Amino acid sequence: MLLLLIHHKLFLLLLVTVFVSSCGTTTTKPPRLVTKLIHSDSIISPYRNPSVTISQHVRSDMKSSMARYEYLKSRTKLHSSSMDDVRGGLIPEAGAPAFLVNFSIGQPPVPQLAVMDTGSSLLWVQCLPCIHCFHNLNPIFDPYKSSTYDNLTCESPYCVLDPYRDNCDYERNCSYSYGYVDGTTTSGDLGKEELTFTISDEGTITIPDTVFGCGHENHVNYNILPISGVLGLGDNRKLSLVSHLGSKFSYCIGNISDPRYEYNQLIIGDGAKIEGYSTPMEVFDGQYYLTLEGISVGEKRLEINQMTFKRDPSGGGGLIIDSGTTYIHLVRDGFDPLDTEVQNLIGGLLQRVDDRTNQERLCFKGSVNRDLIGFPVVTFHFADGADLELDVEAMFKQEGNVFCMGVVPTSFPEPSMIGIRAQQYYNVAYDLIAKKVYFQRIDCELLED
Ligand SMILES: *[C@@H]1O[C@H](CO)[C@@H](O)[C@H](O)[C@H]1NC(C)=O
Ligand SMILES: *[C@@H]1O[C@H](CO)[C@@H](O)[C@H](O)[C@H]1NC(C)=O
Ligand SMILES: *[C@@H]1O[C@H](CO)[C@@H](O)[C@H](O)[C@H]1NC(C)=O
Ligand SMILES: *[C@@H]1O[C@H](CO)[C@@H](O)[C@H](O)[C@H]1NC(C)=O
Repeated sequence: MLLLLIHHKLFLLLLVTVFVSSCGTTTTKPPRLVTKLIHSDSIISPYRNPSVTISQHVRSDMKSSMARYEYLKSRTKLHSSSMDDVRGGLIPEAGAPAFLVNFSIGQPPVPQLAVMDTGSSLLWVQCLPCIHCFHNLNPIFDPYKSSTYDNLTCESPYCVLDPYRDNCDYERNCSYSYGYVDGTTTSGDLGKEELTFTISDEGTITIPDTVFGCGHENHVNYNILPISGVLGLGDNRKLSLVSHLGSKFSYCIGNISDPRYEYNQLIIGDGAKIEGYSTPMEVFDGQYYLTLEGISVGEKRLEINQMTFKRDPSGGGGLIIDSGTTYIHLVRDGFDPLDTEVQNLIGGLLQRVDDRTNQERLCFKGSVNRDLIGFPVVTFHFADGADLELDVEAMFKQEGNVFCMGVVPTSFPEPSMIGIRAQQYYNVAYDLIAKKVYFQRIDCELLED
């Protein structure tokens, strides 16, 4: 119902006006930001090498999931808080689905395409003058040509990423430096700008005074996606757009195998779709941890000790939910019973094949659509009764004439992870104040109006 209202131009204008005009006087509700998530495959086609075969595509998909996983793993072992600040999530490699957000920055507005990432907190875009900028489609943002740009000094409370923060001379610019495990780095000045999002065919919404990284030196390891930055949805109170807008967000991802699926969306702020069953969430080292209590295959609850997915006091183990990881990664004590059950169900019927990217990934010759008709739903049970139900499409991935289980093993003290495949056909909401994550199984199309 509220979503319906947002499409009404008048209501929108009213909302924006109220917010902008009352800025700096009384507190008002932040604006509601509903934006389309663009499937990366829907726009990389002009850049994509058409000769890349399906197995190459699959391999980079797997590699990407593993790389991000390796990174998050190393990160959870790091307990130096200074390191945490300069490390974020990861931009997926070619083949892994990424979800992009289209918005404009500055006045006059300059369009940007940024990767959504729950694993990092900073919003940054490439900025002129470039010490080094990578190729992107849109013109690069020039802060000097924007009437709304404001840079932050090192004395600003938002200046938390400055490597030289301890030597803050009066009015020195706030610099930042941020790195991602795939080798992507960005550094420049932290500034404040106006962001403009298109929220429906009729309207836009403007968010003033957003802290962002104006990146003058940016490197990406690969440049498949025509992106110009990263939109971090992590929980850094000082930095993130999420905390600027009310500490809530939700996203709905439909069929990730379908680049043309139009209804993937992200909502930041009070308009977030906080619906469905909730489960407690804990932020540790900037990651969102959940309590996984068990797994069922059909009606059968697997024998898994409740402690299996618990994070221990030293920070090892636990289970992270993440938008940038592709697959599910489970510690052995959780993986093995699931692996065994799946083998029991289909091992006698189909031929198992070796997977070169990961020896332990369960792969069979055959077709998900033809050979897995009637395969039971796999349910991940989270604390307080929230379930994530995986149908065959979420559990298995067709790779040519072979299909593989989208779950891979790991060992303690590495964390387990719930990646984006498992979140298909769900609206997933994060309430950073109540410290809850909500799951609602839904066709994202139904959220539109
Ligand atoms: C992003 O938004 C701009 C302005 O609304 C539009 O011209 C452009 O086509 C959009 N880009 C994509 C990839 O959707
Ligand atoms: C940023 O701040 C510095 C120092 O306060 C100032 O000299 C400079 O002009 C500012 N840059 C922009 C683009 O406003
Ligand atoms: C601050 O940043 C602006 C814009 O990047 C730059 O022109 C200016 O020289 C910087 N000021 C200082 C004091 O470093
Ligand atoms: C998801 O998209 C793929 C590729 O377009 C398609 O083959 C599959 O049938 C879709 N699944 C559903 C449930 O619509």
